Amino acid sequence: MTKKTVRTGIVGCGFSATFHFEALERVYGTNVEVVGVYSKDAAGANAYAEQRGIRAFESLESLLDEVEVIHVCVPPVAHEPISIEGLRRDKFVVCEKPLTGYFGDGSPDFHWDRADKQLALRTALASVERILEAEHASRGRLLYAENWVYAPAVQKEREILEKTGGQVLWIHGEEAHSGSHSVDYAYSARCGGGVLIGKACHPLTAALYLKRVEGRARDGRPIRPRSVSARTHAITRLPTFRDAGHLRRDYYDIDDFSMIHVEFTDGTIATVFASDVVLGGIHNWLEVCADNHRTICNINPNTAMQTYNPKEEYFRDVYVVEKIGTKQGWACTSPDEDWFTGYHQEMEAFYRTIAYGEPLQSDSLLAADAISTIYSAYLSADRRGAAVDVKTY
Ligand SMILES: NC(=O)c1ccc[n+]([C@@H]2O[C@H](COP(=O)([O-])OP(=O)(O)OC[C@H]3O[C@@H](n4cnc5c(N)ncnc54)[C@H](O)[C@@H]3O)[C@@H](O)[C@H]2O)c1
Repeated sequence: MTKKTVRTGIVGCGFSATFHFEALERVYGTNVEVVGVYSKDAAGANAYAEQRGIRAFESLESLLDEVEVIHVCVPPVAHEPISIEGLRRDKFVVCEKPLTGYFGDGSPDFHWDRADKQLALRTALASVERILEAEHASRGRLLYAENWVYAPAVQKEREILEKTGGQVLWIHGEEAHSGSHSVDYAYSARCGGGVLIGKACHPLTAALYLKRVEGRARDGRPIRPRSVSARTHAITRLPTFRDAGHLRRDYYDIDDFSMIHVEFTDGTIATVFASDVVLGGIHNWLEVCADNHRTICNINPNTAMQTYNPKEEYFRDVYVVEKIGTKQGWACTSPDEDWFTGYHQEMEAFYRTIAYGEPLQSDSLLAADAISTIYSAYLSADRRGAAVDVKTY
């Protein structure tokens, strides 16, 4: 079969735009031609383009004129308008997580601690619905860049569920580290909340995905979330927080710890933790307790490779593993972090859907259910953990 060539554009030129480009270079099922980049930061876009031998565009519209696909690698507050514009122009839209959210009331003193969480839920769902409507009216499609769905360990669990017909009784998981690099991340008005949306979305969406897989494998119908209970905390904003200097602590109004407990329509459960208060490198794992097996997905760290370094300076030029505070001593050095994280598999799968119409694992409906669960969880946390029903799509 001759490989199709797909013309692609990147929107944004920061952290995620970088790993998207690197993952695109590993796609083998199609020829991906990255035509160019557009970013609000024109100087940044020029530098990004120059380093990669692509064009920097002056507007989203001019980029859309030249491509079949756009990658939405911008802060969450800009996901909806850019995705809708792409879909309106019948493009495929690869949208980073979270799909969308609630970004405050526009006032300069907006503060998430005081925000009306019922309004946040309503506003986020209205945004979700506008995106779904735009997709429905489009010849393009939204591909939701939730890399945990494509992490090899999670895809192996999909295979186990499909082949054994197991019932997942409890999923638990976590995404945590010592604090995001992003300036925007400190403000709920740019990110839609704190760790509950920014980090918990990963293990949560993987859990929602696996329950869908389970239901489809057994009787053709996905199992969906029914209700959620949650607590959130802002540990590094506590007056009692003792700062030893290893955690980021300049968050303006976001939660830096969250615990979400989901009940599914079949009565089974998932519990997800997310935080910015964990030292020792990124901590991303998912455990599946089924009636016929148990699986632990160690996304990061894992023991595929371990190194012992007696002196910090020896590894000065060596990348070890994400967010590790020190390179001295033993480390779970990752031989290919992006592979374990699912970035490469995600892009390969997306471009097979785009070029050949292959089925899509991480779609807009999964993204919509994730947003609905997340903002229902924020409402629950506001009610100190009372269960809140989840609307599904
Ligand atoms: N899947 C993952 O593992 C992962 C990791 C990090 C970030 N993300 C997601 O990626 C997205 C971007 O995060 P990031 O870390 O790349 O941020 P970043 O700050 O590094 O980069 C954001 C880029 O978007 C540009 N931008 C901002 N508003 C824009 C607009 N309206 N139009 C065009 N360009 C605009 C900025 O100039 C910047 O180049 C977020 O949704 C985040 O949640 C995902």
